[in-house]
Amino acid sequence: MEIVFASNNLNKIREINNVLGNSFKLLSLKDICMEEDIPENEATLEGNALLKARFIHNATGMNVFADDTGLETEALNGDPGVHSARFAGENKDSEANIDKLLALLEKKTSRKARFRTVIALILDGKEHLFEGIVEGEIITERRGKMGFGYDPVFLPEGRKLTFAEMDLDEKNKISHRARAFAGLKAFLSEYASEKKSTPYYNK
Ligand code: IMP
Repeated sequence: MEIVFASNNLNKIREINNVLGNSFKLLSLKDICMEEDIPENEATLEGNALLKARFIHNATGMNVFADDTGLETEALNGDPGVHSARFAGENKDSEANIDKLLALLEKKTSRKARFRTVIALILDGKEHLFEGIVEGEIITERRGKMGFGYDPVFLPEGRKLTFAEMDLDEKNKISHRARAFAGLKAFLSEYASEKKSTPYYNK
């Protein structure tokens, strides 16, 4: 079964392709020749993920899923949240985003934070949502060189290493994205096996 991942991020596509196995043929936006900018201006992660998935589904009629991720902090009432990529400005500068976050948290007592990924799936015309969360805290100084985004200042709960000090395999065992995609994978696998076992004649 063909399914579109509404993304052109090759790392994410490769990661998800590995996870989904061969019951599904994963197509990127490039594969379906959709190279225009997909709107991403909703106020929630759920809204954005659905907006992207609906945009592709309405344009192509295909099965599709889209993801959206944010870093949510307790002291800032969930910010940067849906604004994580552009927290310090339109150019999506991770270093500036971290500087802004550290400055805003400087005098706060709580440094609790979590990454949250939401995936919206449209399969045979029906909408489904999946969520993955990793809890942790924002430390006061950057540690580590791996990963991307807020990884150098995110310390997952119960761990000694920040996301930027872990290799990708280690991060993927506990990450928000891995957890959300595990939910999607379980759902799609069950769906594919039900389809396979449906009798060709139903009275
Ligand atoms: P996206 O929805 O996956 O594009 O994520 C939006 C923004 O959240 C990114 O631009 C990053 O700033 C941040 N982000 C998402 N996932 C991660 C992660 O695994 N580590 C650090 N930052 C992340």
